[in-house]
Amino acid sequence: MQDLATALDGFEPQTALVLGSGLGSVVDAVDIVSRHDFSALDGFPVSAVSGHSAEVIAGTINGHRVIVLSGRVHYYEQGDPAAMRGPLQALSTVGVNRLILTNSAGSTNPDMGPGSVMQIKDHINFSGTNPLFGEPTDQRFVGLTTAYDKSLRKTFRKQAKALGVKLHRGVYMWFSGPSFETPAEIKMARLMGADAVGMSTVPEVILARFFDMEVAAFSVITNFAAGMTGAELSHTETKEMAPRGGEILASLLKSTLGEKLN
Ligand code: HPA
Repeated sequence: MQDLATALDGFEPQTALVLGSGLGSVVDAVDIVSRHDFSALDGFPVSAVSGHSAEVIAGTINGHRVIVLSGRVHYYEQGDPAAMRGPLQALSTVGVNRLILTNSAGSTNPDMGPGSVMQIKDHINFSGTNPLFGEPTDQRFVGLTTAYDKSLRKTFRKQAKALGVKLHRGVYMWFSGPSFETPAEIKMARLMGADAVGMSTVPEVILARFFDMEVAAFSVITNFAAGMTGAELSHTETKEMAPRGGEILASLLKSTLGEKLN
């Protein structure tokens, strides 16, 4: 076991990326400097969700120094909303102040089908929990009015346009999982203003803002949400569909990092 700073051996990442289910292809774009299993790093929990490896990869994309968390731990695994606090704290300690989060999600928007990529502009925390429960300091009162950094959002939007790829924008609603939602819950989510639903990311956004990182987040749409088509949902479908939108997202990230972001 070692801490992240020791493992990185002087490597100073400019941007951190968290990859969701089936989005591992982003790793192919990284010129790897070092890689470390979560299990070898202090404060990093181990995820046992299939489709998620749990590895930290340090390297460069277009010369831009990145640290990639390939795999994350979810609230639904152990019921701990702060499951990602250790990794995010470690990133903060090694100087990361920009975090890009990715996930797979179900679409509640009929105009945004499987294979689409959505830039998250805001979220709804419908889990009833918060990763800062128990935090004793006044820093727990994190403002989320501008949680998804405006200037980062604009940079990615411009780059998507330049690449000619469709980048949807919308609100992500966090459900605890691990069961999928019911059709009635999805009807409610739509009424409440959600465009996509999923089981991750929101606690990481809250923690990242707590650690004063700027945040961008993207959903790869793997399915229409429950009840929208009549089909039953499955994790197998999530894993099979994620690489589709994942390709678009990977090309957006690759062409933005180093070229448009420093
Ligand atoms: N609901 C919740 N999480 C998901 C979904 C969904 O429909 N698809 C992929 N992740």
